[in-house]
Amino acid sequence: MTKQETDRPEFRLFGRAQGKPLSARQQGLVDNVLPGIDLPAAGEIDAAQLLPGMGSHVLEIGFGGGEHLAGQAERHPQTGYIGIEPFLNGVAKALTYREELGLENLCLHRGDARDVLPRFKAESLDRIFLLFPDPWHKKRHAKRRFVQPSTRDDFARILKPGGKLRIATDVKSYADHCMIEFEQDARFIWQASVADDWRVPPPDHIQTRYESKNLGDCAPVFMDWVRA
Ligand SMILES: C[S@@+](CC[C@H](N)C(=O)[O-])C[C@H]1O[C@@H](n2cnc3c(N)ncnc32)[C@H](O)[C@@H]1O
Repeated sequence: MTKQETDRPEFRLFGRAQGKPLSARQQGLVDNVLPGIDLPAAGEIDAAQLLPGMGSHVLEIGFGGGEHLAGQAERHPQTGYIGIEPFLNGVAKALTYREELGLENLCLHRGDARDVLPRFKAESLDRIFLLFPDPWHKKRHAKRRFVQPSTRDDFARILKPGGKLRIATDVKSYADHCMIEFEQDARFIWQASVADDWRVPPPDHIQTRYESKNLGDCAPVFMDWVRA
């Protein structure tokens, strides 16, 4: 994503798109590596074409500094990972992990996931992670939350039947918001068998940077659904 693109009026992100200046190494990765592992600029996005030869394909939305994304990609070299994040410094950090850990199974895109989700091929993903999305506490900002009927429809369309969705948050009103969004939707099957399940970090979870800061108003909850 170029500076001109982030300046476009239709670019509807509400957070920061860049923080402190990148190091020379990070800038080099953004200039020279990112274009080769980015999503196609137009047309359908087929994860299997982007990351061929992988047993399954996973998307992480808003990966922040990329700790969870890179950690998962390192643990599962036969799974293809795609990360989408608008914040340039986060993308640069993830590129650094990718290089240091030799993560050939990782593609990255700098941008707003809401712009690209509709371009993903139907039933093409095995899993989606949305971990600690920006909370937008105020009621009048609720429309800015990533979880909306439109993104729920995107998730339902692009996940394979049996594909998994995990949303984590440490903001009680966001957890409630997600439960209300998904509980009436027969396309998603709630996975926790007892109420307390969702308060226990799942065994495959890797703590994120944001999560470790304990900024929310409740302990982290992990909401897992399976696409019917
Ligand atoms: C609270 S941070 C959490 C980051 C990371 N998941 C973690 O737990 O450390 C929310 C992240 O979502 C990203 N984000 C916000 N809106 C987004 C969007 N529309 N598409 C993709 N990412 C987005 C932000 O840039 C930020 O990095």
